[in-house]
Amino acid sequence: MKLNHKNIACLLLALTSILANADNGVETKFLGANNTHVKVMAEANYILLPIQDSNDDSKINVIVDGELHETIYAKLSKSKTDFYVPYDLSKLKGKNVILDIVTSQSRSSVREAKDDACWKDIKLANSFDTSNRETKYRPAFHHTPLYGWMNDPNGMFYKDGVWHLYYQLNPYGSKWQNMTWGHSTSNDLIHWEHQPNAITQNGLGTVFSGSSVIDRHGSAGFGNDAIIALYTSASTSQMQSLAFSSDNGYTFHNFNGNPILTLETEARDPNMFWNDVTKEWNMVLAHALEHEILFFSSNDLKNWTLRSRFGKGFGCQDGVWECPDLFELPVEGSNLKKWVLIVNINPGGPFGGSATQYFIGNFDGYTFTADKSADGTIPTKWLDFGKDHYATVSWNNAPDGRRVLIGWMSNWQYAADVPTLQYRSANTLPRDISLFKDDNGDIFAICKPSPELISLRGRLTKKVNHANISNAVKSFSLPTENRGICEINLDIDATKSQQVNLVISNKEGEKVVIEYNPQKHTLLFDRTRSGIIDFSTNFPAITMAPTFEKSGKLSLQIFIDHSSIEIFGNNGKSNMTNLVFPKSPYTNLTISSENGKTLIHNLSIHSINMQ
Ligand code: FRU
Repeated sequence: MKLNHKNIACLLLALTSILANADNGVETKFLGANNTHVKVMAEANYILLPIQDSNDDSKINVIVDGELHETIYAKLSKSKTDFYVPYDLSKLKGKNVILDIVTSQSRSSVREAKDDACWKDIKLANSFDTSNRETKYRPAFHHTPLYGWMNDPNGMFYKDGVWHLYYQLNPYGSKWQNMTWGHSTSNDLIHWEHQPNAITQNGLGTVFSGSSVIDRHGSAGFGNDAIIALYTSASTSQMQSLAFSSDNGYTFHNFNGNPILTLETEARDPNMFWNDVTKEWNMVLAHALEHEILFFSSNDLKNWTLRSRFGKGFGCQDGVWECPDLFELPVEGSNLKKWVLIVNINPGGPFGGSATQYFIGNFDGYTFTADKSADGTIPTKWLDFGKDHYATVSWNNAPDGRRVLIGWMSNWQYAADVPTLQYRSANTLPRDISLFKDDNGDIFAICKPSPELISLRGRLTKKVNHANISNAVKSFSLPTENRGICEINLDIDATKSQQVNLVISNKEGEKVVIEYNPQKHTLLFDRTRSGIIDFSTNFPAITMAPTFEKSGKLSLQIFIDHSSIEIFGNNGKSNMTNLVFPKSPYTNLTISSENGKTLIHNLSIHSINMQ
């Protein structure tokens, strides 16, 4: 070819559209205004993807040796990089890896596309630095993902002293996407160790919520003691799939007969258990848009027979029904045993958005029949009266007959907007659930902080055994060590008072107000002035719980972490879980009593022993 100024210009254009950067082993080729290829040349463990949290998702087809390996979505940065997420290349070494990136923002030309911040920021690395823990709001004694977005807890089981907790994770950003089962383990339900992701997306879709069981006798054909997980494969439709593990839940393999269950309508979040009476496996599945739960049984965990349905017309019908659970529990102080059907709903919670409702009744392995109240209706019952308690389900095979629950401590209304960046969301404290009968003979749940949490208690910083409180405000300092995380226990008798006010505040004047009304038997939590609240109009809120105690006596156990307050009222009968984002830690507690004295039987404040 003869070089003239026309084809020299063409050559130059071609060259500049390859941003070859041999130093960092990444070669970028611009193919069009919205399409770019990033070729990975080095033998590194990770390619670090630069993320701008507010940007739109880019679609990234990962092409390995010319074949489509997988498609992920990430908010690749446009004007600035907020943080990086690692894409694991360790198993692709020696292969030809191209990221075929389709960006969604509209651009008129390749020149404009080249200005995106991500191209110069994409890099290769052998390790991914997780030392930035974003500590201001990251909880100290609640489970959080190492990085990235988290929603529902999934597939929990206990075996050989280890509590396994899987969870809905986006490994490539801090908003919902690329659903994967993340995995953490613990010996004490408090200290969590991060494990490699357990189940990742595959040909049938991303991996939505589900459950796991220990298949003691190998009924599914994957050996004795195999861990069997059922989850929802989500793509255009939702189907149920099975994965099995022969190493106690650390690595899973997908069953080659997946999906194991399909329906013609949206159904998700399979939750299964062994039924000792019928000697069959049972599974509950959320028929999300129909507002009902489907009940199945099986002998081999692969073939499931639909037995019955429950829900239409009962409980809260406002939102989609998700993440069910079903288990039997004794009723305290009686010989009765009852079944608890948990149904998480979103929206439709008592204070807007997500919440956990439950039904008490009987289950014979085929059909669930809900108990009626004295007035002949089937009441809607809530497991927690805060705004940040969702997707709550229990561990299979917990020891000593225990039933331990954990929930996602957020709300779909604003979970993606809370003021954290490299990670989003925590799980609630674990709770042991039991049942009690109220004065009308109605059965309700009690959720107490799991006994393991006692070991969190640090220094006793305040102890009051006996005091009278009037409308003159009494003030108590909260511990300052570990940036104010603490546990407050309070027992009061407010029979002679109209209202008891507790105010938890900081130097900035930000405060959470807790009001107890002994006449109306209600407990109220006001976070409208609690700190940063303006990231969502749904965040500032007042939540209210019935106290289930007519005597005017109240006991409170309050756990304050860096961005949450959990109140366990009257020994777990009256709970509220709420997020808060104070600009500095809360340092003070005041108590006052309106129109009559309140007697404090006990006030104890402990620091918490976690960093
Ligand atoms: C509940 C939920 C589930 C679903 C999962 C997807 O929060 O919507 O129904 O399986 O989240 O991440």
